[in-house]
Amino acid sequence: MEYMRIYGVLVAVALLIIVVDARVRGGRGIEKYVTFGQNYVVKWGQGHVSTLHSGQEVDLYMDQSSGAGFQSRNLYGSGLFQMRIKVPGGNSAGVVTAFYLTSNGGNHDEIDFEFLGNNDGKPITLQTNVFANGEGNREERFHLWFNPIKHYHTYGILWNPYQIVFYVDNIPIRVYKNEKGVSYPSKPMQVEASLWNGDDWATDGGRTKVNWSYSPFIAHFQDFSGLSGCYIDGRSNDVAACGSSNYWWNAGKYQRLSGYEQKIYEHVRNKYMNYDYCTDRNKYQSPPRECY
Ligand SMILES: *[C@@H]1O[C@H](CO)[C@@H](O)[C@H](O)[C@H]1NC(C)=O
Repeated sequence: MEYMRIYGVLVAVALLIIVVDARVRGGRGIEKYVTFGQNYVVKWGQGHVSTLHSGQEVDLYMDQSSGAGFQSRNLYGSGLFQMRIKVPGGNSAGVVTAFYLTSNGGNHDEIDFEFLGNNDGKPITLQTNVFANGEGNREERFHLWFNPIKHYHTYGILWNPYQIVFYVDNIPIRVYKNEKGVSYPSKPMQVEASLWNGDDWATDGGRTKVNWSYSPFIAHFQDFSGLSGCYIDGRSNDVAACGSSNYWWNAGKYQRLSGYEQKIYEHVRNKYMNYDYCTDRNKYQSPPRECY
């Protein structure tokens, strides 16, 4: 009788521990976030960077003296890289907000999102570009189905041995495939974001300049956990090893768009793309081979 009671107490205590432990873990799961400093460092314009909400948001400022930029601590050889961004509004002509992957050194590789500012009432352009071996000139531009100055949206770059996909709120807007012998980014890359003066080209082909009486311009960034990538350490530089299908972003599902994604991709491009280098006969008399 006595040890039945002891046994009962022990069971009750064990249950209590399990319940409390689950609550603690659950709580931790809900509160868990990755701060800016865990994944990123300021690259330039230190005085024009402000960290808010215990590192859950970073704002970049641009005035006449400087813009600013930050970069991931790691180099990557493949992955899916995402960021929540709200771009400067108002009279932002000439102001460029960028989120991109880039290699270091010569003949560089780069995969870009660039928001091209505009004056009040005119749409912001989202430009994308792919550089491989130092060669870019692969611009595609969109006027989005929302106003990127109003709210945060998630912008993502998938980069694996099969394809590069640009996502806006998980909708694929551009695909660049590694096939037909096209040049393809294959150097270790860092994830970067920046806010800078691009008024020699960004708005109306460089004719509309930054009006500094509206500065500072502010770009907002959130969600620094969005780096799912294969790390590369400086010594190995082995991008090929990052092509392993053990990484989920290289697996079958990410090697091509699904039927559903393909449909929405075509719809978005028909409706919202307003420039495509593939059809720019001033730039290319015959389209580059990746365009076919
Ligand atoms: C810049 O904005 C100010 C304030 O609206 C305006 O008075 C000025 O004309 C603008 N400058 C240019 C070059 O458009």
